Amino acid sequence: MKFFIDSADVNEIKQANERGWVDGVTTNPTLIAKSGRSFEEVIKEICKLTTGPVSAEVISLKADEMVKEGKALAKWASNVVVKIPMCEDGMIAVKKLTAEGIKTNVTLVFSVMQALLAAKAGATMVSPFVGRLDDIGTDGMMMVSEVIQVYRNYDFATEVLVASVRSPMHLQSAALMGADIATIPFKVMQTMTGHPLTSKGIEMFLSDWNKAQSK
Ligand code: E4P
Repeated sequence: MKFFIDSADVNEIKQANERGWVDGVTTNPTLIAKSGRSFEEVIKEICKLTTGPVSAEVISLKADEMVKEGKALAKWASNVVVKIPMCEDGMIAVKKLTAEGIKTNVTLVFSVMQALLAAKAGATMVSPFVGRLDDIGTDGMMMVSEVIQVYRNYDFATEVLVASVRSPMHLQSAALMGADIATIPFKVMQTMTGHPLTSKGIEMFLSDWNKAQSK
């Protein structure tokens, strides 16, 4: 299972990278705005921190403009993946960019049928948003399991990138389902390392060690 970090904060990305948690990066306009830096500058810097895919999202909503923007983004670095919102124009753009060998990530996917359409258009990755579905009282991970099933039924090459991850439980379910990738906020990555019994065990080993040294 590949881990992407869902961040436009280069310090966070560096820290996660040191820990072996970065197979790629996803950004979105909100995360870029939060970084307070220019879109181009931050994406180019992130692309140097990893050899994995780095998703950069288009802002246009018309197919031709999305294609133009996507082509420009793809020139920023060889590992840029063009992130396109799920909509009819988006599917036209995905088909055109795919035909030109440019990788795409279809974002804001909230249903199995949207994921099926993204795969049919040739998307490299599809991003089902689980946390935002949970927020409105729906089972986000159920949707992911159905997307995985549908892709398997028809041998689609599109990778399932679980997005809007809010907790380690989302990741555990995604891993058990065999999702290809999860994109994870750094804070959630850090939550996953800890366990009260691990902390207690470390404390006990150290205290036993120190007792033995003082004898
Ligand atoms: C995915 O690529 C998105 O950037 C992200 O996962 C959105 O998550 P959110 O619902 O926490 O904003």
